[in-house]
Amino acid sequence: MNMIQKVRLDTQLASLSPGPISYEENPKRTPLDPNTIFGSKEIWLEIGFGGGEHLIHQAKANPDLGFIGCEPFVNGVAMLLGKIEREGINNIRIYPGDVRDLFDVLPARSISKTFLLYPDPWPKKRHHRRRFVTPDHLWCLARVMQENCEFRIATDIEDYVRQTLSEVPDCGFDLIGDLKEGMHQSWLDWVPTRYEKKALREGRSPRYLSFIRNGAAIPEVF
Ligand SMILES: C[S@@+](CC[C@H](N)C(=O)[O-])C[C@H]1O[C@@H](n2cnc3c(N)ncnc32)[C@H](O)[C@@H]1O
Repeated sequence: MNMIQKVRLDTQLASLSPGPISYEENPKRTPLDPNTIFGSKEIWLEIGFGGGEHLIHQAKANPDLGFIGCEPFVNGVAMLLGKIEREGINNIRIYPGDVRDLFDVLPARSISKTFLLYPDPWPKKRHHRRRFVTPDHLWCLARVMQENCEFRIATDIEDYVRQTLSEVPDCGFDLIGDLKEGMHQSWLDWVPTRYEKKALREGRSPRYLSFIRNGAAIPEVF
């Protein structure tokens, strides 16, 4: 990270916080009030935004919506801050940490679209339960999403597709679209992320999956 990026982290990140989210800032896990973040605007969430290319693209294309991006990788956060400054974007808030902290404090049904783009693949079989597409993560996401709203997943890992198709529909979401054809076509408002470009260079094929939050009740443990 260069000096300018360090200065941006020190000076700009706090002003783009959606509110107290980490355990240090919010030990009682008091819920955030979405109205204090973006007024009555809809809020879209991107989990693990990496360098922030897709988040910036969506925020520019949808200036009337609010966006929360979550990313623990500090260099990625610094890259996003540079893009926000250069593009003059004012509808993104950033949580520089684990999305599970955010799930704790987001009210139920506060998010109207979620993007999970090239989540960490955890390729070893014994690590598959660490993937995002497992009930512990998915039910927490389902709780904060509004009914009939979209959850998009992109991945280049064949086995991640398998696990997604097996686990996501059991946790409050219905698959939409035609699997055979649709899975290979990017969304109309798509922009390739850094990770997707790398996957293509290395000969892996992207897959695009869309789900809709259905009316399934959240199990009590979540
Ligand atoms: C393979 S990278 C993809 C980055 C970006 N979405 C892209 O397509 O270029 C996965 C990203 O997810 C982030 N990530 C992993 N676990 C996370 C978590 N629990 N909460 C938020 N982000 C997470 C990682 O830090 C990493 O930047």
